[in-house]
Amino acid sequence: MSKTVVVIGASRGIGKSIVELIAKNSNYKVFALARNKEQLISNFGCYTNVVCGSIDLTHSVAGQLSEIFEGIHKVDILINNAGLLINKPFESISHEDFHNSYQVNVIGVMETVQYFVPKMNSEKSHIVNISSMGGFQGSMKFAGLSAYSTSKAALCSFTELFAEEYKNSTIRMNCLCLGAVQTEMLEEAFPGYIAPLLPDQMAKFIVNFAENNADFMNGKIIPVSLSNP
Ligand SMILES: NC(=O)c1ccc[n+]([C@@H]2O[C@H](COP(=O)([O-])OP(=O)(O)OC[C@H]3O[C@@H](n4cnc5c(N)ncnc54)[C@H](OP(=O)(O)O)[C@@H]3O)[C@@H](O)[C@H]2O)c1
Repeated sequence: MSKTVVVIGASRGIGKSIVELIAKNSNYKVFALARNKEQLISNFGCYTNVVCGSIDLTHSVAGQLSEIFEGIHKVDILINNAGLLINKPFESISHEDFHNSYQVNVIGVMETVQYFVPKMNSEKSHIVNISSMGGFQGSMKFAGLSAYSTSKAALCSFTELFAEEYKNSTIRMNCLCLGAVQTEMLEEAFPGYIAPLLPDQMAKFIVNFAENNADFMNGKIIPVSLSNP
């Protein structure tokens, strides 16, 4: 039976690899979303089971999503992968930086979930939030990431709160706190840093997790990292 997957933040990096992996399975229909629709079409134009749509999480999302998802009533997997990383000394972080970080990494995700709750498959569905090791309690912290890592910690907290509020529903939500992956985001924030994983390696883990773990976990914050602590 065909399944519907939505990936937010699919134009590059890990999200692009997630869509490429899922699209290889013709039983899946994938909605690949990000701001840069041209890039999405260039990435996925060759797949007949991928629909590309433009969404900006810094604006109210419900109206944008309803244009794309009119007529779609059953979503099996939602992967909230979009993220904004600002790396600046604490005292240089502007009001706009804080606002945009929380808008993309937290508020945009919560509004996206609000939109999709009535559309999630009433038999079983899985929402996977992509957070960071920087937002995982007790992990190693990095100077310059106050706006980013606190917002990713808030995303972890949202996962626990949603799972509690919807524990009697058929929707499962979990949160993956990723360690370093070699993407444009990492290269822009930490030039020259070499990550131990490539986007397609991390995408393989995320897709497998999203497909297979909804029966076993709910509201869990899971570190996905090779580094310690
Ligand atoms: N790479 C790492 O080392 C690492 C480590 C820990 C966690 N993560 C997390 O993993 C996720 C993917 O990271 P990545 O490294 O692949 O990042 P990336 O290369 O910067 O890709 C981020 C994606 O998010 C989309 N996006 C950004 N702002 C958006 C907005 N306002 N509205 C809608 N979409 C937006 C971007 O597309 P557009 O620009 O087209 O909108 C892009 O597709 C992020 O949540 C990140 O925080 C990454």
